[in-house]
Amino acid sequence: MQVQLYYFSGTGNSLSMAREIGKRLPGSVLVPIVGALKKNDIKTTAETVGIVFPIHNLSTPKIVDRFLSRADLSSARYIFAVATRFCSDRVFLKMDRMLKKQGKKINAWFSQEMVCNYLPLFRIPPEEAINRMELNLPGELDRLTDIVSAARVHRPRDSFPLFLISRFIFFPVSVFIDRCRFPGMARSFYADEACTGCGVCQGVCLADRIRVVSGRPVWDLSKECLYCFACLHYCPAGAIQLKGRKTAGKGRYHHTAVRVADIADQKRVEG
Ligand SMILES: Cc1cc2nc3c(=O)[nH]c(=O)nc-3n(C[C@H](O)[C@H](O)[C@H](O)COP(=O)(O)O)c2cc1C
Repeated sequence: MQVQLYYFSGTGNSLSMAREIGKRLPGSVLVPIVGALKKNDIKTTAETVGIVFPIHNLSTPKIVDRFLSRADLSSARYIFAVATRFCSDRVFLKMDRMLKKQGKKINAWFSQEMVCNYLPLFRIPPEEAINRMELNLPGELDRLTDIVSAARVHRPRDSFPLFLISRFIFFPVSVFIDRCRFPGMARSFYADEACTGCGVCQGVCLADRIRVVSGRPVWDLSKECLYCFACLHYCPAGAIQLKGRKTAGKGRYHHTAVRVADIADQKRVEG
């Protein structure tokens, strides 16, 4: 079986998930979405295509939408999607709609609970809680890859209460945040006095909007932020903050198996 696993990852959860899936599905090749989008044409060559991504603002990250609208998935006979946070089926049904014009749909979808890296609202949980969360992961991965290997349809639908909440509460909240809060957030990154000018933020910025100038990071506001939060979380001094969003003292997180170089590597353009 040949499998292409497209991924987007800010703090390593989705990359680590893609790697683990890849280990269990022989013949898998991991392809970063950020790098793929730098090419004029994105055309899959595998019969099985997976897309692994974080949930942003109760939905798919914008860059995943862009990938779905540009990628030619005609080689794929089976497409699966993995969100690295719990989410409603609304997210995957939206992906279905984007693929419809190619005559494709998501044949199997999964949402896997992983650490939430969204600092404006949440603190990073203590290490024991993170370890507990990861205990179920191998079993979940085996279940997921059994379904994908057998090319089984797996489209679990929301319970009735979740259906109502996701359509009548999550959806309008998501539209509101997207239009009214996210643009301001993209302009509110700064480095506090703990910054050492090491340049890690520049390396991991998936949108290439950070340059270290005279030992301090400067954000190019003319470039679109991907809201990956890699700069916030990978800064070794924890010096990057979001103005007005109380990010100081909330801890920082990145997946233990995913290093700075792995995040930066997403910017590479394949062959
Ligand atoms: C800008 C942003 C928005 C997020 N919104 C949500 C959300 O609406 N619901 C949720 O459960 N997690 C949300 N998260 C958390 C991520 O989906 C989660 O931590 C994911 O596993 C991160 O994956 P990554 O390390 O591959 O980027 C958000 C994270 C960011 C950075």
